[in-house]
Parts: sequence; C-alpha cells; structure tokens
Amino acid sequence: MTRFGIIGGGLMGHGIAVALAQAGYRVGVFDADPAALAGLGERVGQALSRSATPPERAGAVADRIFTVDSLAVLAGQSDIVVEAVSERLAVKHEVLAALEPDIAVDTPVWTNTSVLSISEVAQPMLHPRRLVGVHWWNPPYLIPLVEIAPGADTEPGFVKQAHELITALGKTSVLLHRDVPGFIGNRLQFALVREALHLLDEGVCEPETIDTVVRASLGLRWSTVGPMENADYIGLDLTRAILTSLAPSLSGRTSAFPTLDRLLAHDQAGRAAGRGLLDWPAGQGDEVAARLEDGIRHNLRVR
Ligand SMILES: NC(=O)c1ccc[n+]([C@@H]2O[C@H](COP(=O)([O-])OP(=O)(O)OC[C@H]3O[C@@H](n4cnc5c(N)ncnc54)[C@H](O)[C@@H]3O)[C@@H](O)[C@H]2O)c1
Repeated sequence: MTRFGIIGGGLMGHGIAVALAQAGYRVGVFDADPAALAGLGERVGQALSRSATPPERAGAVADRIFTVDSLAVLAGQSDIVVEAVSERLAVKHEVLAALEPDIAVDTPVWTNTSVLSISEVAQPMLHPRRLVGVHWWNPPYLIPLVEIAPGADTEPGFVKQAHELITALGKTSVLLHRDVPGFIGNRLQFALVREALHLLDEGVCEPETIDTVVRASLGLRWSTVGPMENADYIGLDLTRAILTSLAPSLSGRTSAFPTLDRLLAHDQAGRAAGRGLLDWPAGQGDEVAARLEDGIRHNLRVR
C-alpha cells in the first residue's frame, strides 16, 4: 500500500495524517521543530476523539502515524510526499530542494499551500512535473473538500493520481484547470472578508453584525445551494442587474485595509492577542474550535 510522508507536523500536517491513516495508509511525519514531533501523538489522539473515531478503531489509526527524525529518512520511505510546512515561499523552496535528491524521479509531491502559486512553489524543483497542489481544509479529517491544481509544468498523470486517491478517501475532490493563487475556496472566502472589512471601514455595522448576517443567511444557504446554481435559480438577468447596481460600491482594495491596519498597529491581532475585531477572553479560542467542529459534524449529518 502507498506509504505517505508528510513534511510539517503542525495544524494541517497532523490533520492530514489522521485523514490518511483513517483510510488505512501508513503515514510518516517529519518536522524541523522537535517539539512539534514530540507533541504529534497527543494531537493525533485529540483529533481522533474530536473526529468521533470509534475507540476500537482509534488505536489502529494512531498506530499508522509515526514520527521520522530526518527529511532524508522520510524521503527514503515515502511513495507520496505531502509538503505542509509554513506558508512561506522561501521555506517551501528550501524543503523541496532538500527533499528531491532523496526521492525517486517519479515520486509525487503534493503541496498543501493555501495561497501560493503552485508554479512558484515548484520553481527550485529538478522535476516540477511531479508537484501537485492538493489543498485540504481544516480540519482535514472532517471537511470534505480537497482542491487539486496543477502548476504550469505539472504532468496530468500526477494530477489524475491525486484526484483518484483523494476521491477514494471519500473526500470531495475538485480539479482546477490551472494554477491560481488561493485555489477557489480561499479566493471566494477572502473576497467576502475584503467586503466585510470594507463595511467596517465605512462604518456600516459592527464586526459581530457581519458574523450574524453570514451565519443566519449565506452560511445556511451555501451548504445546500451554491452561488452559481443560485444565480441561475434567481435568473441571470436579475443577477446581472444586482451586480451592475452593487459592483461600483464593492471594495476593490488591493492593499491598505484600514480596520486591519489600525488593529494590528495596536497589537490587537485576534485570538492569540486576546483582542482583534472581537474580544477573546481566556478559553474563547477553545470554545470556537469545539463549536466549529461540532457545527461541521452536525451539518454533514443533516445534509
Ligand atoms: N491553517 C489552515 O487552516 C490551513 C488550511 C489549508 C492549508 N494550509 C496550509 O498548510 C500549510 C501548513 O499550515 P499549518 O496551518 O499546518 O501551519 P503550522 O504552523 O501549524 O505548521 C507548519 C509546520 O511546519 C514546520 N516547519 C517549518 N519549517 C519547516 C522545515 N523547513 N522543515 C520541516 N518542517 C518545517 C513547523 O515547525 C510547523 O510545525 C501552509 O502552507 C498553510 O498555508 C493551512
């Protein structure tokens, strides 16, 4: 059976490991930070209990995930390598350059980058034809979607293999025709975030109001009827009329986001700082993490 090697055992790396091990794969994990490796078992255990894996299965799933002390060893024992290191181009380049001499020329490499161009990530590679963008969503063992995109030099066979393997996991695997920063999901998500910040900048409402609006309307609708189906449903003539009327007042900002710039200048960076757009009292982060996973599980059950 295919052996996976994951580089980066952080939030996504350990979650992807759980998703793959749940499907029966053996998964080695390497991380440059020894603390990340030392804590991997505990985080895998937490993910398994949060993902409601039956206790009689959880042990076997956890046993399929193991830590590896060096990149070279991971490379030598992996049939597919998943790159899930920090979202910095220089770090990804360094890791891929170090990895490639130690893997066979046909070993696929999947990058979990969120918003970097796959072609740019592939830039230092000896064989960029094997790099595929395989973008999981957090938490990977719960969210169905995985977006798959080729870089400019990726060979179609590697894309097809990734798509088939991810589909066989029971995931909703979608294929992009070409590389675009942010795949589809993050482009849509951050178009909405940009507009939400614009509403705050313009003094239209409070941040809490934005969340209430999305949770009580769009968030419910979009899990059953997507925006393209809805555009057809209401009619493209109406869709065009609404867009023509709204588009001039929508945000087109490409830099300088006043609300974000002001908060960040005052060290109000969000959850970790205790204050951001909202207040984050102690324990609130854990409550949000639990609510997020419970809500996703509930939505998946009732869908
Ligand atoms: N957080 C999310 O919701 C999310 C969702 C989808 C995709 N992603 C993407 O997944 C990737 C990982 O993100 P994350 O949220 O897991 O970050 P993270 O910070 O939780 O984990 C990154 C890990 O990479 C390790 N690392 C850094 N440099 C390394 C190196 N040279 N060699 C080996 N390990 C190294 C770090 O020690 C850390 O444990 C990023 O590209 C990110 O954009 C994140």
